[in-house]
Amino acid sequence: GGVHASNTHDSAHKHVSGTAVYIDDITEPAGTLHAGLGLATVAHGKIKSIDLSAVKAAPGVVAVLTAKDVPGDNDISPSGMHDDPILADGEVLFHGQPVFCVVAETRDQARRAARLAKIEYRELDAVIDIWNLDAETHKQVTTPLVLDRGDAKANLGKAPRRIKGRMRLGGQDHFYLEGQVSLAVPGEDDDVTVHCSTQGPSETQHMIAHALGVPSHAVTVEVRRMGGGFGGKETQANQCAVLAAIAAKKLKRAVKLRLDRDEDMTATGKRHDFAIDYDVGFDDEGRILAIDYTFALRAGFSADLSGPVGDRALFHCDNAYFFPHVHAKSAPLFTNTVSNTAFRGFGGPQGMVGAERVIDEIAFAVGKDPLEIRKLNFYDEMGAKGSRNVTPYHQKVEDCIIQRIVAELEESSDYARRRREIAAFNANSRFVKRGLALTPVKFGISFTKTESNQAGALVHVYTDGSVHMNHGGTEMGQGLHMKVAQVVAEEFQIDIDRVKITATTTGKVPNTSPTAASSGADLNGMAAQDAARQIKDRLIDFAAETHQIPRDQVVFLPNRVRIGNQEISFNELVRQAYMARVQLSAAGFYKTPKIHWDRAKGKGHAFYYFAYGAACSEVSVDTLTGEYVVERTDILHDTGRSLNKAIDIGQVEGGFIQGMGWLTTEELWWDGKGRLRTHAPSTYKIPLASDRPKVFNVALTDWSQAYEPTVHRSKAVGEPPLPLGLSVLHALSDAVASVADHRICPRLDAPATPERVLMAVERLKAEA
Ligand code: MTE
Ligand code: HPA
Repeated sequence: GGVHASNTHDSAHKHVSGTAVYIDDITEPAGTLHAGLGLATVAHGKIKSIDLSAVKAAPGVVAVLTAKDVPGDNDISPSGMHDDPILADGEVLFHGQPVFCVVAETRDQARRAARLAKIEYRELDAVIDIWNLDAETHKQVTTPLVLDRGDAKANLGKAPRRIKGRMRLGGQDHFYLEGQVSLAVPGEDDDVTVHCSTQGPSETQHMIAHALGVPSHAVTVEVRRMGGGFGGKETQANQCAVLAAIAAKKLKRAVKLRLDRDEDMTATGKRHDFAIDYDVGFDDEGRILAIDYTFALRAGFSADLSGPVGDRALFHCDNAYFFPHVHAKSAPLFTNTVSNTAFRGFGGPQGMVGAERVIDEIAFAVGKDPLEIRKLNFYDEMGAKGSRNVTPYHQKVEDCIIQRIVAELEESSDYARRRREIAAFNANSRFVKRGLALTPVKFGISFTKTESNQAGALVHVYTDGSVHMNHGGTEMGQGLHMKVAQVVAEEFQIDIDRVKITATTTGKVPNTSPTAASSGADLNGMAAQDAARQIKDRLIDFAAETHQIPRDQVVFLPNRVRIGNQEISFNELVRQAYMARVQLSAAGFYKTPKIHWDRAKGKGHAFYYFAYGAACSEVSVDTLTGEYVVERTDILHDTGRSLNKAIDIGQVEGGFIQGMGWLTTEELWWDGKGRLRTHAPSTYKIPLASDRPKVFNVALTDWSQAYEPTVHRSKAVGEPPLPLGLSVLHALSDAVASVADHRICPRLDAPATPERVLMAVERLKAEA
């Protein structure tokens, strides 16, 4: 049951039997009220008048809140830019922006009442799409980042070959199963407890306190689990939480706010879509010499996390490749659309899409298999004496294992043989064409915001030897609690069922970072280990003293402790320690060493280490309709010395499928008026069980371990597998290219929906 054991997720049976408690399943306190939102119906406008009399008069309505009902600051901006009103005040900046909040006896009454508002707007010009915006001159929501190493300009000029291009890359809705939801319960002394589906309870607590104008100690935020977060509940959970809290305090009754799917998709932020400009110089072999990138991203109406998302795109525009000379900049562009936010990978996958497009361009230009170009451009392997190991942000890559991963995957997926077979198949198949691609992933682990890289934990050992474990991380399905429990069980050498997993709450562990950046297990695992070790140290001291033996003769064995030449149960040692008044509770803490980052200079040791992986996908495309099937995917992914292989494989599978969905069928579409028209599963297509690869082989490297002393030498797994989905986009590109004999780069944009694939096929046929 300790570390490296494949325990099942602690809630697996509850998930599948419907007994896991989500926010909406919590037994409601007597008299609970329900809130609904009134959303803006224009993309940009001044509010001329608001008439809410019909809303107030509707059956069951108890109160209606507008901006002026916010007791403290009407702002939930996570960036400090003060640009995220809780409720629109005077002006609306996107279609779907919350303008008022109605509270009624039932949820149905609140939702019906919300539709009765009469709001008049003076409509103003709205910017919806970024494709035709000038990244230099258009309004940006925050300061862009520039990365510079070497002399990109001079070396582009000198390069024997050069290609310029542009790529359009779509966004993504989180589509967590449990939507945004909060239940606020007023308490004594005007305090409030909020049960919220949030990845960042501390941030939610602070936002609520700020909006209520009360100290943080008057607000407790608690979450046992989320039905998925995926980054969508890092900042976006705050709005429901704050509104429920304001209403609960005002009305002195519990208030629940749960968005329905259409509202959730319309009114909360998503993955950023990008327009990527590239200018690459290379030699006749296909080796990259210099590169210039602009990553423009649709920020939406406010900064939210767009600054750091753009940064992470630049941090990954190299993917696993060394750029001798590079200039790259981000452009977080203002638009009158919902404010985009964190989504698994946090801009990193978008950066990698830019890298892989360039690889594709070069491969077609020099007439080689893209895999050859990839291998030619990899960073130096760990331990190599070369100098091709510095990133665009001046960090040395010291732990590169991509060569070995790709070599092993090439072998296990039978790449070379299938490459030949596919060529033969395509030569004989008139309409159905196959494609194959093997793409690498290198993902940087750490928050680039240095202060976020800290965590706390609280461990109690009760007198019967059972353990209560709490830490600052949140469970969103990724198995974090099980992993941290395994770390604690390992320290005490006790069975995993002796360790109780408890809800995350700001009352037990304060000032925690959101569970994000894949760092949940790395940070909280270490903090919990620290807490457990403190208690264990006291137990060892106690045993050594009472038995008059050296400390090293106290050894923790499975559920027992050897003290000199005597053995007693763990429970007995704990009981004796209690009787001797030994403290059996401890708070643990951890902060990531080594990292630093100077954004103004674009230099630093931004990441503690890198996680690696590779995927090989094969598709078949019907060139008459553009429809496609993923025939087979093989993945080899690195999680170091995995804390729990079963959970990690689940993360790799889920990450790949989510990445594949983003790059293939999931398309967000706003009309000219700024209305999101794909706000339900009827029009927004996430992968179905039937869309998974027909053959799906997923393996973890069994030989790798973290280069740095992470928790038991494991590596983060949450986000790095998502860009493995790029193998499907590139397999589609390969299939499309076959219609023009692999002489033209398909420049396949994403999402590569069947329509887009069909258009690429038609374009290549016409050009061939
Ligand atoms: N897995 C599930 N099942 N549900 C989720 O919401 N979120 C992902 C990833 N895997 C997510 C998930 C994201 S965005 C992150 S950052 C990590 O899990 C966070 O968890 P960890 O840091 O504990 O790995
Ligand atoms: N992922 C990666 N980096 C981050 C995130 C995230 O969700 N949040 C803040 N930095």
